[in-house]
Amino acid sequence: MKIGILTSGGDCPGLNAVIRGAVLKGIKIYGHEFVGFRDGWRGVVDGDTIELPRHMVRGISKQGGTILGTSRTNPYDGPNGGPEKIKATLARLGVDAVIAIGGEGTLAGARELSEAGLPIVGVPKTIDNDLDATDYTFGFDTAVQIATEAIDRLRTTGESHHRCMIAEVMGRNVGWIALHAGMASGAHAILIPEQQVSMDQVVEWVLEAHGRGRAPLVVVAEGWVPAGEHIAHSVRGTDVFGRPRLGGIGERIAPQIEHLTGLETRAATLGHIQRGGVPSAFDRVLATRLGMASVDAATKGLWGTMVSLRSTEIVNVGLEEAVGNLKKVPQERYDEAAMLFG
Ligand code: F6P
Repeated sequence: MKIGILTSGGDCPGLNAVIRGAVLKGIKIYGHEFVGFRDGWRGVVDGDTIELPRHMVRGISKQGGTILGTSRTNPYDGPNGGPEKIKATLARLGVDAVIAIGGEGTLAGARELSEAGLPIVGVPKTIDNDLDATDYTFGFDTAVQIATEAIDRLRTTGESHHRCMIAEVMGRNVGWIALHAGMASGAHAILIPEQQVSMDQVVEWVLEAHGRGRAPLVVVAEGWVPAGEHIAHSVRGTDVFGRPRLGGIGERIAPQIEHLTGLETRAATLGHIQRGGVPSAFDRVLATRLGMASVDAATKGLWGTMVSLRSTEIVNVGLEEAVGNLKKVPQERYDEAAMLFG
C-alpha cells in the first residue's frame, strides 16, 4: 500500500513525531510505502509530493514544525480541487490512502472528502486542545510548558517592580492554554473566551493580590472579550486571507487596569513562540502513538475515522465526532481555578 501523509493548518509541536511513527511502523510492520504531500492540502491538489523513506524520518520526533510544510489551502479550492480531481491525482500518483494531520478545518475537509469516497484517515492536532473527540491533542502540553515558563519570568520582573503583569496566550475560541498555564504559574486572574468576566471583577482580583503584597499576575487568552464589550475578533483587522487577526487583548486592557487600579501595568503577548520549537516528551509519545495508530487504521481501511486519545488508550472515532464541536473549558474547571484568584 502507498500512503500519502499531509500536515495542514497551523503547525504544532509533535507533527514530525506523528510522521515518524506512521512511516516507521508502516514500513516495518506492513511493508507500506510513504510519500508526503507538501504544504497540506495544497500538495494533494497539486500532486506535489516528496518520498518518505525510513531515513527521511530518522530523529525527527524532537523537531518542531513539520518537515512537510503546511498551509491553510482548502482541498475544494482551485481548478484541481474537489473529490473527483483529487481522486484522479491520487490514482496518477499511485497513492492508496491519505493520512491527514490537522485541526478542525483540516478534519472537516477530510470528512467531506471521505464521504465523497476518498480513502482518508485523520489525526487530530492543535495546541489549543479544543477538539472534542479526543482527551488531549499533542502540542498542547508543549504550549502550556512554554507559556508557564514565560509567565514565571513575568512574575519575577513584576515582583521586582511592584507591577501588575498581564500575559496573553493563544486560544482563539477556547481557554485551555490560559487555564493550565495560569493554574501552573499561580495567576491571580485567568480570562478565557468561555467566561463572561467584567473589568470590574478583574480590577477586584488585581487589587486583592496587590493588597496582600503580591505583584498581580493576569493570564488572558487572545480570544477573551470583557463582559459587556463587543471587541469581536476584528480587533486587529484581518490578514490577506481574510482571517481575523487576534492578539492584542493584553495590550488593550493593560492601560485600563493601570488607570482603574493605579498600579503600573505591563503586558506581554506570547504569540507564536507557544507553537514553535521542540515538543515535550508527553507530546512526542502521544504523537508517535497516534501516527502508528493512523497506519493501523489505514491498513484496515477505516476511512472517515480519526485516531484519538481516550484516557490512556488510542481509539478510532468517526470524523463527524471530531468536527463541529469545540471542546470548551467546562464551568467546573474554571470555578476550580477561580477559587484561588485574587
Ligand atoms: O493553532 C491554533 C492557533 O494557535 C490559535 O490559538 C491562534 O489564534 C491561531 O493558531 C493563529 O494562527 P496563525 O497565526 O497561523 O493564523
